Amino acid sequence: MNLKDIKKEFPIFSNKVHNNDLVYLDSANSSQKPLVVVDRIYDFYTKEFSNVGRSVHYLAVAATNLYENTRSSVQKYINAKDKNEIVFTKGATEAINLVANSFGQKYLKEGDEVLLTELEHHSNYVPWHYLRKSKGIKIEFAEINENGEVTLDSIEKKITKKTKIIAITHLSNVTGAILPVKEIIKLAHSKGIPVLIDGCQSAPHLKLDMQDLDCDFYAISCHKMYGPTGLGILYAKKKWLEELPPYQGGGGMINEVKKESISYGDLPNKFEAGTMATAQVIAFDESIKFLNKIGIENIVKHENELMDYGQELLRRNNSVTLIGNPKNKGAVLSFTMKDIHPHDIATILDEDGVAIRAGHHCCQILHDKLGLAATARASLGVYNTKDDLDQLNSSINKCKKIFE
Ligand SMILES: Cc1ncc(COP(=O)(O)O)c(C=O)c1O
Repeated sequence: MNLKDIKKEFPIFSNKVHNNDLVYLDSANSSQKPLVVVDRIYDFYTKEFSNVGRSVHYLAVAATNLYENTRSSVQKYINAKDKNEIVFTKGATEAINLVANSFGQKYLKEGDEVLLTELEHHSNYVPWHYLRKSKGIKIEFAEINENGEVTLDSIEKKITKKTKIIAITHLSNVTGAILPVKEIIKLAHSKGIPVLIDGCQSAPHLKLDMQDLDCDFYAISCHKMYGPTGLGILYAKKKWLEELPPYQGGGGMINEVKKESISYGDLPNKFEAGTMATAQVIAFDESIKFLNKIGIENIVKHENELMDYGQELLRRNNSVTLIGNPKNKGAVLSFTMKDIHPHDIATILDEDGVAIRAGHHCCQILHDKLGLAATARASLGVYNTKDDLDQLNSSINKCKKIFE
């Protein structure tokens, strides 16, 4: 698939925003959806709909097969060893809550430490905070350096004999820093500590290989991968899924229910309670096909080129201060402008059809550390072009003039 024409695959780009072409620079928040994904949802509901894993009629069996096909596609996409290591959740947030709850319930006690970083999204902090409240665990934070990175060294400094799990982002949604997760996992495992990776920002932009990474848990957000909302993935090593107690109880996750006892279903059903996001799972198979058709290597190359171009443009723009300067950086450009609130920047850019995000991006700990209440953030996806970045820069210049 030619990346030059990729915008045509996304119906949203045929609409105007305030009479302008849409320049969508908010993919770190959520990506736009290609027509194949939207069509798949429509087709499923109009021609194939049934709940999965329950009835034996034609539609139910067919829907269950489609649902399980997506699980196999995800397994291949992230190179997991076993298809049953893929658990569908309602988002990455639920995937992390699942681990914090189930792991916390079984393995954490008062005084135990969970090691996070200062870069974490609230989704990878608040669930651990609950355990601090309920169980008296301690939360430690590996610090960022002046480039907005977290190094192996900074992780190592915070590991103690009480560290029971390390939960860290793969790619920061603010500074764009890509963490040396493989080395961190190796170090953690040498000390017998399991690692959860928040892969929300990495999964749409980097090649993933669970077996090579050797991580214990990896959380993915499907709506950032050109897929539907209401869907996430927890990859977990089989041994953990076998050992951990279920997160939620309900239909579909049990084997046998008696008045006095319950036994749980096989993996991964044990972790998929109740009616799941059936249409979203089935449509997500199209997102994976879409990503495979372009090829992750081409996506990485395209986004890196855009990233370099965008960084250079904004560096040369003396009204802009870029946030973070990591050596290994993903498709995120966070910035501030002197004396202009990020919300004003975003509102003025919006008049030109330029969609960015402003705020703390669910990373208040990081913003506190940076001494900022908010930042503006332009983030990239496969559909972006150099023209989009030129428009960003010229709308920033317009914004500067308004405040002069
Ligand atoms: C780094 C990071 N972690 C977690 C999340 C939460 O993901 P979800 O929306 O799938 O719950 C996000 C979404 O913004 C994110 O950027």
